[in-house]
Amino acid sequence: MAQGMTSNEIRQKFLDFFAGKNHKIVASAPIVIKDDPTLMFTNAGMNQFKDFFLGNRKPDNPRIADTQKCLRVSGKHNDLEEVGADTYHHTMFEMLGNWSIGDYFKAEAISWSWELLTSVYKLPKDRLYVTVFEGDPKENLPPSQIALKEWSKLVPQEHIVFGNKKDNFWEMGDTGPCGPCSEIHFDNRPDAERAATPGHLLVNKDHPQVIEIWNNVFIQFNRKADGSLEQLPAMHVDTGMGFERLVRVIQGKNSNYDTDVFTGTIAEVERITGKKYNFGDTRSDVAFRVLADHIRAISFTIADGQMPSNNGAGYVIRRILRRAVRYYYTYLDYRQPLLCQLVESLGRQFEFVFPELYLQKNFVEKVIREEEKSFLKTLEGGLRRIEDIHVKDGVIDGSDVFELYDTYGFPVDLTRLIAEERGWKVDEEGFTKALNQQKERSRADAKRETGDWVTVTEKTGTELPVTTIS
Ligand code: ALA
Repeated sequence: MAQGMTSNEIRQKFLDFFAGKNHKIVASAPIVIKDDPTLMFTNAGMNQFKDFFLGNRKPDNPRIADTQKCLRVSGKHNDLEEVGADTYHHTMFEMLGNWSIGDYFKAEAISWSWELLTSVYKLPKDRLYVTVFEGDPKENLPPSQIALKEWSKLVPQEHIVFGNKKDNFWEMGDTGPCGPCSEIHFDNRPDAERAATPGHLLVNKDHPQVIEIWNNVFIQFNRKADGSLEQLPAMHVDTGMGFERLVRVIQGKNSNYDTDVFTGTIAEVERITGKKYNFGDTRSDVAFRVLADHIRAISFTIADGQMPSNNGAGYVIRRILRRAVRYYYTYLDYRQPLLCQLVESLGRQFEFVFPELYLQKNFVEKVIREEEKSFLKTLEGGLRRIEDIHVKDGVIDGSDVFELYDTYGFPVDLTRLIAEERGWKVDEEGFTKALNQQKERSRADAKRETGDWVTVTEKTGTELPVTTIS
């Protein structure tokens, strides 16, 4: 294995490999999406090419490759709950991708992915497993015979696993381009374990050491709003490789956080807090991982123009930030703004990959510091309040969840997290009801107000105070 490669070298090798196969290397699109109402954040490398797949626009080169900043914290692809608790899910991650817009198809995509992994990165072939779509009669989708034929030329039968629609039919969202896919998984278990249980039994079974690294999607359809599949005018390739996972398997680590993508930030957190990572305390280890992960999502999103706020994409960022603050406050005993102190080194780490962060580091740092300061002011009160809450039958009442949200700024998923740690549940319905009641109240209050504003047109899409002339 090419264990000595740094993460920067690994990324560069990917781009060079596909440049060598006549791909145009493009920049990552912003992580925040402003022009597609079906998505809040970029959740896959292909998002910026959606119109190429649908046939609405034509690229100047039908072969493209890049590394894309992605965020999977809302909508169809949401990994937030896993982040920190395990060692291989992230909020923000880099997706290495190569695309064919109506150009090459399954044979080339499959053989190139194998060539890159085994000849360039020199991953051991006996640890690699691939999956093939088994078909879905309900959707009238046949099994992927071509993918099976191509993989059979490269790997033994027992390394090919058939998968259903859930694992082997990739969709961008509820609507949009989609198609059958073929994933590549890596089995990182020790030899004795591998001998006892063959890897193909653990593919797509949430085993922390048998993980998916690359997905090759063969885009052929457009999922319509009515749920039907429409055949696209051309067939395309859309691949996505999880960069942090790739680095982990090449560098021979058991955790993404032990690679040089994250060790710099973890060392910074150790320096700032005086605590040690991997010192035997599970909860503080989770906190280190949460911080190393979340600071990337928060910083890059702000650098791409999304300020934390009380709604939409801004609230997603605020929630991630507050989750991180609560972790360092409770498990690393740190009571000052911490995240903002990590921006400089993170920006430097990515200076030549995503320069937008380093260029705006002072601004990003300032925004994060203000957010942290304001939440730290109320966090202690909220945590104390939780101790006083009367929990009935293991469920926190919706009105208490609402109070934590409204008075102490606890996003509901933070309360959910704390509840889970104590073996409690959250009364979700009650919370939603209380929240809606509050919205009703403020609408009614706004109506009662009088002033100089006159409603000229209804439904502007922006929430201004609605007033009447008395
Ligand atoms: N778009 C595919 C994915 O995100 C490659 O898995």
